[in-house]
Amino acid sequence: SLFKGRSKMIALFVPDIMNPFFPELARAVEDMTNRHGYTFVLCNTDDSIEKELTYFNALQQKSVDGIIVVSSSITNNYLDTIDTPIIALDRKLSSSLPSVTVNNRVGAREAVRHLKATGCKRIAHLCGPDSVSNTTQRMRGYLDEVKDTEWFLSSYIASGEYNFEKAMEATTALLTAHPEIDGIFVANDVMGVGALKAAEALGIHVPNELSIIGYDGIALGNTTTPSLTTMAQPIYEIGTRAAEMLIKQINDPSHRPKNEELSVRLIERQSTKARR
Ligand code: RIB
Repeated sequence: SLFKGRSKMIALFVPDIMNPFFPELARAVEDMTNRHGYTFVLCNTDDSIEKELTYFNALQQKSVDGIIVVSSSITNNYLDTIDTPIIALDRKLSSSLPSVTVNNRVGAREAVRHLKATGCKRIAHLCGPDSVSNTTQRMRGYLDEVKDTEWFLSSYIASGEYNFEKAMEATTALLTAHPEIDGIFVANDVMGVGALKAAEALGIHVPNELSIIGYDGIALGNTTTPSLTTMAQPIYEIGTRAAEMLIKQINDPSHRPKNEELSVRLIERQSTKARR
């Protein structure tokens, strides 16, 4: 087997250390692993399979005891060659790996319903990269709520990346092509901040003319003007649960953890407001 363990060390792979969602998550995993006497290693992968493999190999040399991965690129073939305990966090991998995620489809539906409740009539979606499972689920939730409305156009869906600049560009293009849009459900908060910036640059007032809701609940969303309404994930709890599941599996290799799905909750701030 590739992995032997017993280093009293646990690693976490994150795809983008620049997105505040991931340090918040890492903090939780670190706290819980430390509490159980493990040291903690953070690996930033840029969602690149090459970087992931490099880290897997390096960790193997160090006899790491377990790995928690936020990834959309590791393949089943590769995972089958590793016999150290692994938990998928935040993003499901297309394998039988146990995972801790949130209910992204339900959360997305709730986000769109909130926009409707505040009076939005033409709601767009700025989505994340389509290789990521939770992007797909958030898109489905959006479509559940809008596809049967008479106003829905497929060009109301703008594809983006989970980053600020791309979100700004995509929002600018979307609002220029469709000035009638009065609400945007954005797939994460970093993108939501980009959307706010784009609206400001176009002279569109948020929330009087346009409502914006994000996803994640990172602290950054509370620092913008206007502050960003969001579907908040229980970030700390997600990290804690994944660490607990992993440690349990390390201590009892016959234990097969079940997938866990936690709930998101609406945090209403200034970027969405009931309009007359
Ligand atoms: O902000 C980072 C995004 O990528 C989050 O929405 C999270 O769920 C992750 O997959």
